[in-house]
Amino acid sequence: MNTLLSESTPPRPGGGSVSPGQALTIRGGHPLSGRVTVKGAKNLATKAMVAALLGETESVLRDVPDISDVHVVRSLLEVHGVTVQDDGDGVLRLDPSGAVSAHFDEIDAHAGASRIPILFCGPLLHLLGQAFIPDLGGCRIGDRPIDFHLDALRAFGATVEKLPSGIRLSAPGGLSGANIALPYPSVGATEQVLLTAVRAKGTTELRNAAIEPEIMDLIAVLQKMGAIISYEPNRVIFIEGVDSLRGYDHRCIFDRNEAASWACAALATDGNIFVTGARQQEMLTFLNVFRKAGGEFDITEEGIRFYRGGALKPIVVETDVHPGFMTDWQQPLIVALTQADGTSIVHETVYENRLGFTRALVKMGADIVVHPEGIASADRRVPRRALEQAAVITGPTPLHGADVVVPDLRGGYSYVIAALAAEGTSIVRNVDIIRRGYEKFLDKLTDLGADFDVVG
Ligand code: EPZ
Repeated sequence: MNTLLSESTPPRPGGGSVSPGQALTIRGGHPLSGRVTVKGAKNLATKAMVAALLGETESVLRDVPDISDVHVVRSLLEVHGVTVQDDGDGVLRLDPSGAVSAHFDEIDAHAGASRIPILFCGPLLHLLGQAFIPDLGGCRIGDRPIDFHLDALRAFGATVEKLPSGIRLSAPGGLSGANIALPYPSVGATEQVLLTAVRAKGTTELRNAAIEPEIMDLIAVLQKMGAIISYEPNRVIFIEGVDSLRGYDHRCIFDRNEAASWACAALATDGNIFVTGARQQEMLTFLNVFRKAGGEFDITEEGIRFYRGGALKPIVVETDVHPGFMTDWQQPLIVALTQADGTSIVHETVYENRLGFTRALVKMGADIVVHPEGIASADRRVPRRALEQAAVITGPTPLHGADVVVPDLRGGYSYVIAALAAEGTSIVRNVDIIRRGYEKFLDKLTDLGADFDVVG
């Protein structure tokens, strides 16, 4: 049985049930079976919290996951004078009426390993005429540049000054609507434009925008606040700036990435997991790939049950912007593909270093070769960029326990399911990174029958 401090157990001295640098000892060979519940999407909740800064009255956000990315944004809001009240059961009340400039040191101290601070620019410029954004954190899956963000803010009329510790922005004369064409349908840059354009003077036209479900949910949040936003089928979004916005009451869209992660865990461990809160519509592409890989699923109004439909099958899949196969889904899927009978190819086209995590899977016995040049494929939703890679996975190869260190959020999750699928015992270190995006992760593993201890 697990000797663990679950998230619901009073945290040990030093806070949290898994402190930085802690590890899990995992005994493999057990299928994961049972039920888990996914709350609101990490990649919407954090952005909706920032949007509350734009309102003149209190906002209420529901189904907010208890994850460290949310804690970082809460601290940053509080440093800027926003009062954030946790009503329990995932309900946050955010009151921006006391918003003030924050001191650089305080902002820097709270920015943590997150990319969300960059999205404070527009709201703070509207509110205070200035903003300081520290250098960003986030998963080390590539350079993670912010050039699209800064170009967009300049187009709105902001001045941007690069400092050794971050960037200082100002817009004393206010911000005006702009015509912006993104070089790539960047999720973050699209959010940057949305959060800035809604209160800019005049209309903004954004071309080559990201249209992920989390983006559409952020548009819904902004419309509730009084914004006027429309979009066309060809990734064009129009925003008519308004003079003021009010608070919202919004329930976050469910976390597709967490739902897909647990689906891959069922596939990799030959288990059977019911994910309460998962919805078919936002997971259509994932479900197609899951089925082609040999998975099966039953869709109900409460959620989706994931399990193996028979032998795992090798597949070729390319990550893409929505409605393609999300880059966040490929890492847990690769673990299952190591057990498929044949050769699979995963072509990563969004980030330049999101296949590095496979080195640890090779250490556990997987046969994976990563080709830095990717694959030349003609018909693409997004033009080819010189930063793609392809993983060739040949299976089935029995996985054995190993000592591995979590490199990033989804890679870390993948190591845990690989350790659960392996024969023998593994040590997975630095597991606190996983808490950035998976609420009550250890409790869920226990509920699904995983056999592990928290060590160190
Ligand atoms: C968001 O990251 C998500 N993170 C990522 O999820 C997700 O993988 C990604 O969107 C793609 O869907 C959050 O929402 C917090 P991008 P983001 O801007 O906004 C390049 C997870 O596991 N780019 O769409 O940073 C960039 O380098 C995380 O939950 C520029 O070149 O992604 C990348 O190659 C991981 N310049 C590509 O665009 C810029 O200014 C896509 O990045 C911005 C981006």
